[in-house]
Amino acid sequence: VANGLGRTPQMGWNSWNHFGCGINEALVRSTADALVATGLARAGYTYVNLDDCWADYQRTKEGYLVANPKTFPSGIKALADYVHSKGLKLGLYSSAGTRTCSDKMPGSLGHEDTDAKTFASWGVDYLKYDNCYKDGTPETVRFQRMSRALMNSGRPIFYSLCEWGYMEVAKWGGAYGNSWRTTGDIVDTWSGMLANIDRNDAYARYARPGGWNDPDMLEVGNGRMTYNEYVVHFSLWAIAKAPLIIGCDVTSVFRETLGILSNAEVIAINQDRMGVQGSKVRTYGNGLEVWAGQLSGHRKAVLLLNRGASRPASIAAAWRDVGIRRRVTVEARDVWKHETLPGKFTGSLTAVVEPHSCKLFVLTPFPR
Ligand code: GLA
Repeated sequence: VANGLGRTPQMGWNSWNHFGCGINEALVRSTADALVATGLARAGYTYVNLDDCWADYQRTKEGYLVANPKTFPSGIKALADYVHSKGLKLGLYSSAGTRTCSDKMPGSLGHEDTDAKTFASWGVDYLKYDNCYKDGTPETVRFQRMSRALMNSGRPIFYSLCEWGYMEVAKWGGAYGNSWRTTGDIVDTWSGMLANIDRNDAYARYARPGGWNDPDMLEVGNGRMTYNEYVVHFSLWAIAKAPLIIGCDVTSVFRETLGILSNAEVIAINQDRMGVQGSKVRTYGNGLEVWAGQLSGHRKAVLLLNRGASRPASIAAAWRDVGIRRRVTVEARDVWKHETLPGKFTGSLTAVVEPHSCKLFVLTPFPR
């Protein structure tokens, strides 16, 4: 959509995966503080996004959405001012239906223009727009109405569609929004995470600067996967040009989690200016896979993934699978180890990968 936003996948934080409806203004302020203090803001995570349950149960008599007076007594405008004072941006959430998914607040169906103007007047920078309590109107119509309303609101507002991949949203989402959910809600488990990225992979060709496939927000740091599994989760989201929206509690984040979320070389793959979504290019038996994607400067991102649970495996990325011409020689950079491998590679790159783990490389033609 022509709002100039999302030239690279959006980065930030969202309240839902960790806090659900248990949010309040003190939490959002301390999250903004923590994003700055931990260096995550500097690493690129700029959106601070409230998910469901920020608003009062009903509209005002005049028909406006208002913040929940108990949990957000200072109101959204004051919160936006605070978040902006930290150099960050504020996001809100609504639904293309009469209520949001929690049923704790009204949705925006039939109030699109009023709500978009309200959001703009508060200084809101981002809207996640969900699909609960809908009427019989197709998604294409209801999501377009909010798109127009945001465009007419007088403020550039990043528009994140959350209709869960109904109506093949990847085919039309880019006309209206900056990203679109291709899946149901992520689950903080190995199989749940993989199910979302596999489904998202089917739409790789629709991603481009300005509009991204969204396999849902990150679970890194929420505790139900191992360290290596979270490395896989983050690597897959990076290579697939997925939005990097942190879903853990950054006010009490472990060093290990921070190390994953703030790896600058992995983030650089996600934020590469070409904006080409990497995808699965090879499946061997036993859950061994190769994912690859084009990067600027004739480079490639290559992920070797061992989905198996039992033993380490040697996985080969063949040039014909990753899209490198046969005789081309490359240097390989292991972006998790921050090491360039000794030697040069022609034809293929092979590495041993532990169970439920991956290796992520950037291949650069040599000589350049
Ligand atoms: C839906 C969305 C989630 C979250 C919840 C909030 O399930 O897909 O991401 O926003 O609603 O209720």
